[in-house]
Amino acid sequence: MQAPGLDQENLLNFMNTALVMVNHQLSIVYVNQAGEALFETGSKHLLGHALVDFFMAGSIEASRLKAAMRRGEDFTENELELRFRDERVVMADLTVTNVYYDNATHLLFELRRIDQQSRISRENLQNAQHFAARELIRGLAHEIKNPLGGIRGAAQLLEKELPNEALREFTQMIVEQSDRLRNLVDRLLGPNALPKLKWSNLHQALEKVRALMKMDTEHAITIVRDYDPSIPEVHIDQEMIQQAVLNIVKNSVQALTDAHITGPEIKLITRVGRQLTIQGKRHPLVARIHIIDNGPGIPSTIRDTLFYPMVSSKQNGSGLGLSIAQTLINHHGGRIDVDSRHGHTEFTLFLPIVRKELTHE
Ligand SMILES: Nc1ncnc2c1ncn2[C@@H]1O[C@H](COP(=O)(O)OP(=O)(O)OP(=O)(O)O)[C@@H](O)[C@H]1O
Ligand SMILES: [Mg+2]
Repeated sequence: MQAPGLDQENLLNFMNTALVMVNHQLSIVYVNQAGEALFETGSKHLLGHALVDFFMAGSIEASRLKAAMRRGEDFTENELELRFRDERVVMADLTVTNVYYDNATHLLFELRRIDQQSRISRENLQNAQHFAARELIRGLAHEIKNPLGGIRGAAQLLEKELPNEALREFTQMIVEQSDRLRNLVDRLLGPNALPKLKWSNLHQALEKVRALMKMDTEHAITIVRDYDPSIPEVHIDQEMIQQAVLNIVKNSVQALTDAHITGPEIKLITRVGRQLTIQGKRHPLVARIHIIDNGPGIPSTIRDTLFYPMVSSKQNGSGLGLSIAQTLINHHGGRIDVDSRHGHTEFTLFLPIVRKELTHE
């Protein structure tokens, strides 16, 4: 029985498994939507092109495929590392089946990404870390702020009773240092206010960051913009998103400058993404902001705790930039991903796009 309105083509496009079929010349003759997503390009650029051309040597070998076809052998490979020409690396389970179709032998590729599963557990871990760190800080902040208020108050009282004006220097010092500590605790606690959501143009926020950054850097860092004009207005707190992006961009600027990279470059890219699960919630539509630099990459020693507050590789860094950025993006129901290697550090912000008619404004 077939559900009304559901033809097989539709069904193949609903699948999470990437399906790609090639003819005897190994040219692509069919690709479903998951396949397009895997190759990060549309069927127009895939159909009629040689499959192996999309991969680096050693990933998908033409000789092996031809042999499989000649001998009519099917094969499966688990945890295969697919290295794309654009240097992307995707882990996938692969099954290749010989199919006889249209009077000729073809190969059908079924590719299931396995990084999705590990990404979800990484996301859970990242959230758990973030949550644990915030709880710890909240508890500590409370314990520090109360006695601190007492110390400050006592110093002020003491000041009034001082027999000698010259001694004020010391009570002032107590007050100043208490204020400094209080300030630090407040910054550690991070932004606490809920976002004031307004319909906004995401690119406007990015352009503000770009302008701020240009003023801030005397170094000639090239900024490449590649915005997707089809992104609809998003329901965000523009200042918060600006702050999150700025914290990430600032890190890039610092990394590029400190490492004296020749031809330093930061790319700001926006795209629309589809069907993405964030914190267990599936969103049909999300906005993606990619912030990419060609710097030295994130030191491996801090990669796993990157979003913890006070994790920093810099002498004067407070290690709060990314922790704050994550809090801000979490407030929007979004997520931050990181991918970093030498010469390529990429932070991706995902923000759910809600449809205007579903909100009450
Ligand atoms: N684009 C990047 N390239 C290389 N390393 C990075 C990049 N972004 C972040 N990092 C690393 O992550 C660490 C944490 O960044 P975070 O913004 O949280 O703190 P910080 O920059 O050290 O201090 P703060 O932002 O509070 O001034 C940095 O110290 C740096 O080592
Ligand atoms: Mg920073």
